[in-house]
Amino acid sequence: MPDGVWRRFLRSVGVVRQFPPPRVEGDAQARAVRGALEAFLARDEDRFRRLFLGGEPLVLADAERPWMEVLVAAGYVTTILAGAVRRCVRVFFLDELFIATDLLAHHDEDQVFSLMLEQVFLVRSMDLRKGDHVLELCLGSGVNALAAARRGAARVLGVDVSERALAFAAMNAAVNLSRERATRPSRRSAGTCSTLLPKGNASISSS
Ligand SMILES: C[S@@+](CC[C@H](N)C(=O)[O-])C[C@H]1O[C@@H](n2cnc3c(N)ncnc32)[C@H](O)[C@@H]1O
Repeated sequence: MPDGVWRRFLRSVGVVRQFPPPRVEGDAQARAVRGALEAFLARDEDRFRRLFLGGEPLVLADAERPWMEVLVAAGYVTTILAGAVRRCVRVFFLDELFIATDLLAHHDEDQVFSLMLEQVFLVRSMDLRKGDHVLELCLGSGVNALAAARRGAARVLGVDVSERALAFAAMNAAVNLSRERATRPSRRSAGTCSTLLPKGNASISSS
């Protein structure tokens, strides 16, 4: 059977599912997501890794249920049975940043890129001075732009051609940059979208 037909069959029976990007409605929900991820990670890093990186479904402990309700509402995980969840996204924790990316099972060409050694290297080695203005071309999940914002850049502009990447980047910005707001990026000109991530009290906006 051709690969595309097989994949469509697996999708139709729910074995392979394509999930929309995670989303939050505002600052309060973004803070709740951040709190839920922090609490879940702090309670048991192994379970956090098994769920979000290993892809194992988890039967929830009582203490985890309130955090998972928050993460279900934001589209990070989905309920598969009463009291059990599986992931909709991968979530990496790198230098205080929670970065959501697509599952590797998201086969479409707009798959939002996972974190690998090169992202870790770049985040940890970027030569940045407070007040710098940063432009990231090919933003993806936004991990590099967000690291720059967290390290004191005055303004960070990320550009990506993919609406899906921009949605993930806006979500990751909302969860990781306190006091800012993330708004839907918009198409600026043919084939190019951007999202702007100012630091401090300014709001995240798009143009
Ligand atoms: C490897 S991924 C993301 C890389 C990201 N900077 C990182 O370190 O995780 C490359 C990204 O480039 C975007 N891209 C490819 N061609 C582009 C173009 N011509 N203009 C803007 N973005 C582009 C893709 O949509 C994709 O999100």
